Amino acid sequence: MTIARAVLPVVLAGAALGVASHVAAQPEGNATRGAALFGQCVACHAVEPGVHLTGPSLARVWGRRAGTVEGFTRYSEPLKRAALVWDAATLDRWLEDPQAVIPRNLMTYPGLKDARQRADLVAYLKAAAAGQAPPTAPGGRMMAAPPRPDLKTLGPERRVRAIRHCGDGYHVTTEDGQTVPFWEFNLRFKTDSSPLGPSRGRPVLASAGMQGDRASVVFASPEEISRMVEAKCP
Ligand code: HEC
Repeated sequence: MTIARAVLPVVLAGAALGVASHVAAQPEGNATRGAALFGQCVACHAVEPGVHLTGPSLARVWGRRAGTVEGFTRYSEPLKRAALVWDAATLDRWLEDPQAVIPRNLMTYPGLKDARQRADLVAYLKAAAAGQAPPTAPGGRMMAAPPRPDLKTLGPERRVRAIRHCGDGYHVTTEDGQTVPFWEFNLRFKTDSSPLGPSRGRPVLASAGMQGDRASVVFASPEEISRMVEAKCP
């Protein structure tokens, strides 16, 4: 018996096994279950077209080249360079281990080990691309990330009139006449140029969660920051 004959059945068996495990790795997905799982993504992704958060809108990624969603300007170089088209197979691998598929991409998500859950998410993204994404919460209500407030509508106690820097602190005066001191390390300066951001020249004070000692001042654009902060001790 020749070596070729002995090897051939092994190769065929391997190929058959490969196909079987490939099928097993991609079970049939269910978009409704995927909608519930999408709760893991909503902090960074919306499925409405054109709504970009930390990550791009996923409304139309299905069948599209990676890194090409219109209006999203913050893709990493590795993702832009990856010659990948998003389909069932590539999305499955991406969701299992994003860093393995595109090293040094900027999606901070550890990956989802459960193959069926990945298939459900893939089915959800496919339905979203067809404009048929099932609601992400029971009762038909969209469970998006907690809605961002429109910063133009905040009251005088949140509208910042002056910021003074002295020593290691900022003293923030709001339009209701209150002045609150912050350790400089606890105050962040941010910009929000979206339609929900503050009006030009009218920055607002946003608290950072439960700790009352931390806050952010949100400006309409970066050049307003240095204009507003005055170095002055009483
Ligand atoms: C902490 C934020 C964050 C979370 C959570 C997150 N993503 Fe992402 N995602 C990103 C960022 C940022 C990018 C762009 C990465 C880059 O440019 O390197 C991205 C990119 C993607 C892309 C490629 C988009 C394109 O235009 O090529 C897909 C698909 C995707 N994410 C799906 C998901 C899904 C599904 C989930 C939930 C299971 C998820 N992401 C969770 C931040 C996140």
